[in-house]
Amino acid sequence: MSLPLIPPGSKAVVFDAYGTLFDVHSAVARHAGQIGPEGTRLSEIWRAKQLEYSWVLSLAGRYRTFWALTEQALDYAFARCPTADYSVRPLLLDAYRTLDAYPEVRAALDGLRSRGLRTAILSNGDPGMLGSAVASADLAAYLDAVLSVDGAKVFKTSPDAYQMAIEALSLNEDEIVFVSSNRWDVAGAAAFGFTAIWVNRLGLPDEYEDLAPHAVIDALDGLL
Ligand code: LAC
Repeated sequence: MSLPLIPPGSKAVVFDAYGTLFDVHSAVARHAGQIGPEGTRLSEIWRAKQLEYSWVLSLAGRYRTFWALTEQALDYAFARCPTADYSVRPLLLDAYRTLDAYPEVRAALDGLRSRGLRTAILSNGDPGMLGSAVASADLAAYLDAVLSVDGAKVFKTSPDAYQMAIEALSLNEDEIVFVSSNRWDVAGAAAFGFTAIWVNRLGLPDEYEDLAPHAVIDALDGLL
Protein backbone atom coordinates (compact mmCIF):
# COMPACT_ATOMS: atom_id res chain seq x y z
CA MET A 1 0.00 0.00 0.00
CA SER A 2 1.50 3.38 -0.88
CA LEU A 3 1.69 6.30 1.50
CA PRO A 4 0.96 9.79 0.22
CA LEU A 5 4.04 11.58 1.59
CA ILE A 6 6.58 8.79 1.28
CA PRO A 7 8.19 8.74 -2.19
CA PRO A 8 8.13 5.42 -4.06
CA GLY A 9 11.44 3.60 -3.59
CA SER A 10 11.79 4.70 0.06
CA LYS A 11 13.00 1.85 2.27
CA ALA A 12 13.20 3.37 5.75
CA VAL A 13 11.79 6.19 7.83
CA VAL A 14 14.32 7.60 10.29
CA PHE A 15 13.16 9.77 13.16
CA ASP A 16 14.75 12.42 15.30
CA ALA A 17 14.06 11.60 18.96
CA TYR A 18 13.76 14.65 21.20
CA GLY A 19 10.81 16.81 20.27
CA THR A 20 9.79 14.41 17.50
CA LEU A 21 9.02 11.14 19.34
CA PHE A 22 9.53 12.37 22.92
CA ASP A 23 8.11 15.52 24.47
CA VAL A 24 11.14 17.33 25.91
CA HIS A 25 8.90 19.62 27.94
CA SER A 26 7.22 16.71 29.71
CA ALA A 27 10.07 16.58 32.27
CA VAL A 28 9.35 20.07 33.59
CA ALA A 29 5.60 19.51 33.20
CA ARG A 30 5.77 16.55 35.61
CA HIS A 31 7.27 18.72 38.34
CA ALA A 32 5.69 22.06 37.44
CA GLY A 33 4.09 22.53 40.86
CA GLN A 34 7.37 22.21 42.71
CA ILE A 35 9.34 24.35 40.22
CA GLY A 36 6.98 27.31 40.40
CA PRO A 37 6.06 30.08 37.96
CA GLU A 38 9.28 30.02 35.94
CA GLY A 39 8.76 26.40 34.82
CA THR A 40 7.98 27.11 31.18
CA ARG A 41 10.91 29.52 30.90
CA LEU A 42 13.21 27.00 32.60
CA SER A 43 12.19 24.28 30.14
CA GLU A 44 12.68 26.53 27.12
CA ILE A 45 16.12 27.75 28.22
CA TRP A 46 17.12 24.17 29.07
CA ARG A 47 16.28 22.94 25.57
CA ALA A 48 17.72 25.97 23.74
CA LYS A 49 21.04 25.76 25.59
CA GLN A 50 21.30 21.98 25.18
CA LEU A 51 21.06 22.48 21.41
CA GLU A 52 23.36 25.53 21.33
CA TYR A 53 26.06 23.58 23.17
CA SER A 54 25.80 20.74 20.63
CA TRP A 55 26.28 23.10 17.68
CA VAL A 56 29.13 25.10 19.28
CA LEU A 57 31.06 21.98 20.23
CA SER A 58 30.58 20.43 16.78
CA LEU A 59 31.77 23.59 14.99
CA ALA A 60 34.77 23.73 17.32
CA GLY A 61 35.63 20.10 16.61
CA ARG A 62 34.86 19.06 20.19
CA TYR A 63 32.46 16.47 21.57
CA ARG A 64 30.85 15.66 24.90
CA THR A 65 27.91 13.34 25.35
CA PHE A 66 24.45 14.80 24.88
CA TRP A 67 23.70 13.77 28.44
CA ALA A 68 26.57 15.94 29.71
CA LEU A 69 25.21 18.85 27.64
CA THR A 70 21.72 18.20 29.01
CA GLU A 71 23.04 18.50 32.58
CA GLN A 72 25.05 21.66 31.81
CA ALA A 73 22.09 23.24 30.05
CA LEU A 74 19.83 22.52 33.01
CA ASP A 75 22.29 24.17 35.41
CA TYR A 76 22.41 27.23 33.16
CA ALA A 77 18.61 27.32 32.98
CA PHE A 78 18.39 27.23 36.79
CA ALA A 79 20.88 30.11 36.97
CA ARG A 80 18.61 32.13 34.65
CA CYS A 81 15.45 31.27 36.62
CA PRO A 82 16.27 32.19 40.22
CA THR A 83 12.79 31.46 41.57
CA ALA A 84 12.87 27.83 40.34
CA ASP A 85 13.41 25.32 43.14
CA TYR A 86 16.91 23.85 42.51
CA SER A 87 16.14 20.79 44.60
CA VAL A 88 14.06 19.51 41.64
CA ARG A 89 17.22 19.11 39.53
CA PRO A 90 17.67 15.33 40.10
CA LEU A 91 13.97 14.73 39.48
CA LEU A 92 14.13 16.63 36.20
CA LEU A 93 17.14 14.64 35.04
CA ASP A 94 15.39 11.38 35.96
CA ALA A 95 12.33 12.55 34.05
CA TYR A 96 14.47 13.37 31.00
CA ARG A 97 15.48 9.71 30.85
CA THR A 98 11.83 8.65 30.75
CA LEU A 99 10.16 11.40 28.73
CA ASP A 100 6.59 10.96 27.51
CA ALA A 101 6.28 9.81 23.92
CA TYR A 102 3.70 11.75 21.90
CA PRO A 103 0.42 9.80 21.84
CA GLU A 104 0.46 8.92 18.13
CA VAL A 105 4.06 7.61 18.00
CA ARG A 106 3.48 3.89 18.45
CA ALA A 107 0.63 3.67 15.93
CA ALA A 108 2.62 5.67 13.37
CA LEU A 109 5.68 3.41 13.69
CA ASP A 110 3.46 0.33 13.52
CA GLY A 111 1.65 1.66 10.44
CA LEU A 112 4.89 2.35 8.58
CA ARG A 113 6.29 -1.08 9.40
CA SER A 114 3.10 -2.82 8.32
CA ARG A 115 3.61 -1.16 4.93
CA GLY A 116 7.08 -2.68 4.60
CA LEU A 117 9.20 0.29 5.70
CA ARG A 118 11.99 -0.01 8.24
CA THR A 119 11.93 2.45 11.13
CA ALA A 120 14.81 3.91 13.11
CA ILE A 121 15.87 6.73 15.41
CA LEU A 122 18.87 8.91 14.59
CA SER A 123 19.44 11.21 17.53
CA ASN A 124 22.00 13.44 19.18
CA GLY A 125 21.12 11.58 22.38
CA ASP A 126 23.75 9.16 23.61
CA PRO A 127 22.94 5.44 23.68
CA GLY A 128 22.18 5.34 27.40
CA MET A 129 19.59 8.11 27.40
CA LEU A 130 18.03 6.87 24.15
CA GLY A 131 17.80 3.30 25.42
CA SER A 132 16.10 4.46 28.57
CA ALA A 133 13.59 6.69 26.71
CA VAL A 134 12.77 3.97 24.17
CA ALA A 135 12.29 1.38 26.93
CA SER A 136 10.12 3.56 29.14
CA ALA A 137 7.89 4.51 26.18
CA ASP A 138 7.76 0.83 25.15
CA LEU A 139 8.90 1.56 21.59
CA ALA A 140 11.66 -1.02 21.11
CA ALA A 141 9.41 -3.48 19.28
CA TYR A 142 8.49 -0.78 16.72
CA LEU A 143 12.06 0.22 15.77
CA ASP A 144 14.59 -1.59 13.58
CA ALA A 145 17.47 0.54 14.87
CA VAL A 146 18.23 3.16 17.51
CA LEU A 147 21.22 5.17 16.25
CA SER A 148 23.14 7.69 18.30
CA VAL A 149 25.52 10.27 16.84
CA ASP A 150 27.81 9.22 19.69
CA GLY A 151 29.15 6.71 17.15
CA ALA A 152 30.40 9.61 15.01
CA LYS A 153 31.27 11.93 17.93
CA VAL A 154 29.68 14.89 16.18
CA PHE A 155 26.17 16.31 16.44
CA LYS A 156 23.57 16.97 13.80
CA THR A 157 23.63 18.95 11.51
CA SER A 158 27.05 17.56 10.58
CA PRO A 159 26.80 15.34 7.49
CA ASP A 160 28.86 12.78 9.43
CA ALA A 161 25.95 12.40 11.84
CA TYR A 162 23.34 11.76 9.11
CA GLN A 163 25.80 9.39 7.38
CA MET A 164 25.38 7.02 10.32
CA ALA A 165 21.88 6.13 9.07
CA ILE A 166 23.21 5.33 5.60
CA GLU A 167 25.80 2.99 7.04
CA ALA A 168 23.66 1.35 9.70
CA LEU A 169 20.76 0.68 7.34
CA SER A 170 22.88 0.01 4.20
CA LEU A 171 20.69 2.36 2.16
CA ASN A 172 21.25 5.35 -0.13
CA GLU A 173 20.22 8.92 0.79
CA ASP A 174 17.23 8.81 -1.54
CA GLU A 175 15.90 5.62 0.09
CA ILE A 176 15.62 7.28 3.52
CA VAL A 177 12.83 9.56 4.70
CA PHE A 178 13.97 11.60 7.69
CA VAL A 179 11.34 13.00 10.03
CA SER A 180 11.98 15.71 12.62
CA SER A 181 10.01 18.31 14.54
CA ASN A 182 13.16 20.44 14.70
CA ARG A 183 13.30 22.69 11.65
CA TRP A 184 17.10 23.01 11.94
CA ASP A 185 17.34 19.20 11.78
CA VAL A 186 15.05 19.06 8.73
CA ALA A 187 17.38 21.60 7.08
CA GLY A 188 20.42 19.45 7.88
CA ALA A 189 18.74 16.29 6.62
CA ALA A 190 17.63 18.00 3.40
CA ALA A 191 21.15 19.34 2.84
CA PHE A 192 22.46 15.81 3.32
CA GLY A 193 20.11 14.44 0.65
CA PHE A 194 17.39 12.73 2.66
CA THR A 195 13.72 13.21 1.88
CA ALA A 196 13.03 15.40 4.93
CA ILE A 197 9.61 15.76 6.51
CA TRP A 198 8.93 18.44 9.12
CA VAL A 199 6.54 17.66 11.96
CA ASN A 200 5.48 21.20 12.80
CA ARG A 201 3.64 20.33 16.01
CA LEU A 202 3.43 23.94 17.20
CA GLY A 203 2.49 25.64 13.94
CA LEU A 204 5.78 27.57 13.86
CA PRO A 205 6.71 29.82 10.92
CA ASP A 206 8.95 28.26 8.30
CA GLU A 207 12.67 29.08 8.06
CA TYR A 208 15.76 27.81 6.18
CA GLU A 209 13.97 28.52 2.91
CA ASP A 210 16.77 27.13 0.76
CA LEU A 211 16.58 23.80 2.65
CA ALA A 212 12.86 23.20 2.38
CA PRO A 213 11.08 20.11 3.69
CA HIS A 214 9.60 17.62 1.24
CA ALA A 215 6.38 17.87 3.28
CA VAL A 216 5.04 19.39 6.49
CA ILE A 217 2.71 17.51 8.87
CA ASP A 218 1.36 18.46 12.27
CA ALA A 219 1.73 15.04 13.93
CA LEU A 220 3.24 11.69 13.00
CA ASP A 221 -0.08 10.13 11.94
CA GLY A 222 0.20 12.48 8.96
CA LEU A 223 2.76 10.02 7.56
CA LEU A 224 0.12 7.31 7.10
C1 LAC B 1 17.72 14.67 18.79
C2 LAC B 1 17.47 16.02 19.38
C3 LAC B 1 18.49 17.00 19.16
O1 LAC B 1 18.66 14.52 17.99
O2 LAC B 1 16.24 16.50 19.02
O3 LAC B 1 16.98 13.74 19.14
